[in-house]
Amino acid sequence: MKIVDQRKILHTQTNKLLESDRLLISDIDHTLLGDRIALKELIDYLQSSEIAFGIATGRSIESAQQILQEWKVPSPDLWITSVGSEIYYGEEIQMDLEWLEHINDQWQPKLVREAIAKLSGIKLQTAEGQRTHKISYLVDPAKSPSIEEIQVHLRQYQLHVQAIYSHQEFLDILPLRASKGDAVSYCANKWNFAIENILVAGDSGNDEQMLTSGANAVVVGNYSFELEKLRGQEPVYFAVGDYAQGILEAIAHYKWR
Ligand code: GLC
Ligand code: MG
Repeated sequence: MKIVDQRKILHTQTNKLLESDRLLISDIDHTLLGDRIALKELIDYLQSSEIAFGIATGRSIESAQQILQEWKVPSPDLWITSVGSEIYYGEEIQMDLEWLEHINDQWQPKLVREAIAKLSGIKLQTAEGQRTHKISYLVDPAKSPSIEEIQVHLRQYQLHVQAIYSHQEFLDILPLRASKGDAVSYCANKWNFAIENILVAGDSGNDEQMLTSGANAVVVGNYSFELEKLRGQEPVYFAVGDYAQGILEAIAHYKWR
């Protein structure tokens, strides 16, 4: 068993986060889900291995639970949801309150909404997309300022946030300390995983920070345009296969089997 601070031991049944020294963290939409046959192969492989399994998604925890059930994916050991602004553990969905406290630093959601309201071509997503530490918008790129201009605008308001753009359509504003990548680094540290023993998989803009976090990374074949700039960076592997097939390819590429 690895050495993990006893105070962090989960009040739950055994969790692979405590025992395993390797961790696979996958985005859900257009990465883990999309190819049922490859997904089945990946699940069988994970279940027969010691590897801990996490997801990192833009979805809320409720919506992530629902879609994983629909696709018959077993409950992950680690849930990074709402683009890294929330972290949960195990089947019991135990929230990491320490994380929430950490990212809350300088978070001023009301000021963020006021600042973004001044821009054209950007409208709030429905209530489902809004969380305590994530404000999400739909963007019409023909009418809205560019992501760089939006970032400059937010800085002028002295707002300490991350603005994350995905699929040329979604804009998420998060506390400066929150992203999928920051959440992965935090979990690596908390659960004592060497960063090179973590494999992360993604397909779009909100995955960028975790794909460049230093973990072994895979961009699946069906990736979105905004990740093209990661090509050539190490250790980021661009798979040929789509969805879970791309993840299986990366498991072989990084010699996990
Ligand atoms: C998911 C979320 C949405 C977010 C998008 C991109 O679709 O539901 O709120 O904007 O991911 O991160
Ligand atoms: Mg995705």
